[in-house]
Amino acid sequence: MSTINSIKGFKDILPADAPFWQFIEKVVRDVSRRYDFEELRPPIAEKTEIFARGIGEATDIVEKEMYSFVDKGEERITLRPEATAGIVRSVLEHHLTAGGRAVRLFCMGPMFRYEKPQKGRQRQFHQIDVEVLGDAGPYVDVEVLSWLNDFLHGLGLTGLMINLNSLGCPECRPAFRELLVKFFTARVESLCPDCQRRLEMNPLRIIDCKNEKCREIVKDAPIMLDHLCGDCTDHFNKVKELLDLLGLKYKVNPFLVRGLDYYTRTAFEVLSDDLGSQSAVAGGGRYDGLCKELGGVDIPAIGFAIGMERLVMLLKEKAAIEAQTPDYYLAVLSEAALPVAFKLAKDLRDNGHHVAGDWEVGSLKSRMKKADKSGAAKTIMIGDDELGRKQAVVRDMQAHEQTELDLAPYMA
Ligand code: HAM
Repeated sequence: MSTINSIKGFKDILPADAPFWQFIEKVVRDVSRRYDFEELRPPIAEKTEIFARGIGEATDIVEKEMYSFVDKGEERITLRPEATAGIVRSVLEHHLTAGGRAVRLFCMGPMFRYEKPQKGRQRQFHQIDVEVLGDAGPYVDVEVLSWLNDFLHGLGLTGLMINLNSLGCPECRPAFRELLVKFFTARVESLCPDCQRRLEMNPLRIIDCKNEKCREIVKDAPIMLDHLCGDCTDHFNKVKELLDLLGLKYKVNPFLVRGLDYYTRTAFEVLSDDLGSQSAVAGGGRYDGLCKELGGVDIPAIGFAIGMERLVMLLKEKAAIEAQTPDYYLAVLSEAALPVAFKLAKDLRDNGHHVAGDWEVGSLKSRMKKADKSGAAKTIMIGDDELGRKQAVVRDMQAHEQTELDLAPYMA
């Protein structure tokens, strides 16, 4: 029978990579504690409607990429393609902003998008999500950007640039959209087929089309920043001022648009030159209208998500993270020594030590080979000789020095 492999675009995170993931998760928790962000763990599936309404019917995600199915109770369900819509659903359902304070949340976990897999792009991938709901002011915009900056520095990833833009609001965006449609309609023949379609459904997305010809046209297109209303202009200026106040580096990028429809005002991405075509490490922005869209309550919000696979790629290029190696390896040299070694291992573990062992008997040579492979700092050898003397031999694998360990307590 042939073996069964994993699903296309779904990857195992193997033990050799786990230390990178654990390091990232630790830094997320450290930074979140310093910034007073709490963890929320929503389910990985939601009712399909949450994403269709939240992310937008005309987005690539909702149009083509969702893993959706009808369950046995005839409910239409989708594996989350992103976390924000589900987090909003949870905050509304549990009234998490009821105390009058904004709620500051983070979440980590798998997301699912039926995209064409390539380097840095998978169908199951992982995100760190950071969201603040309940505050419309520019201070929280900069607080979440500061979280992001500190997190990247905490990982040792310097030199990544925050690209910043404002996407306006329901006051100013419709007129800008009209302008864009007018501009692109006059050049429709030269647009790629995808953008010709976008012109009707989602003209803002033409701005970040990767097609060379479209990019040439976009260079002369009107930009949102020139058409913001007074309130959006004030908000954007204040965000820049506060970023400067904290000394955070950023670049205003008027061509930055996002792939999800819910954004208003501040939008940003962190890009890296070291990731090839899938260069976005993180992306997010303000989504002041989403809560109303999903629940009828008006709660302003801002947040972003970081792609964890892409972080691991960047970290791997930078430096190896040392795997946790055992303090002790137990080399068992005779059948009679096996239960003694087993009990000793339990005692060492009870005392907080990291202990490795294979619970099989072998020659000294074969055991030492396994001890070397385990990377243990010390090897404890127990055979018939050691049982006779009630003393195990403890070898320091680096210094090649040997000491003894009393076996009497383990030889009842
Ligand atoms: P997004 O830009 O769709 O935003 O995704 C955020 C990040 O997730 C990307 O910058 C990228 O690093 C990673 N990512 C996305 N798709 C894939 C994939 N197929 N394979 C690997 N990595 C991927 C959102 O998801 C929004 N929910 C962000 C947000 C939160 N906005 C407000 N709050």
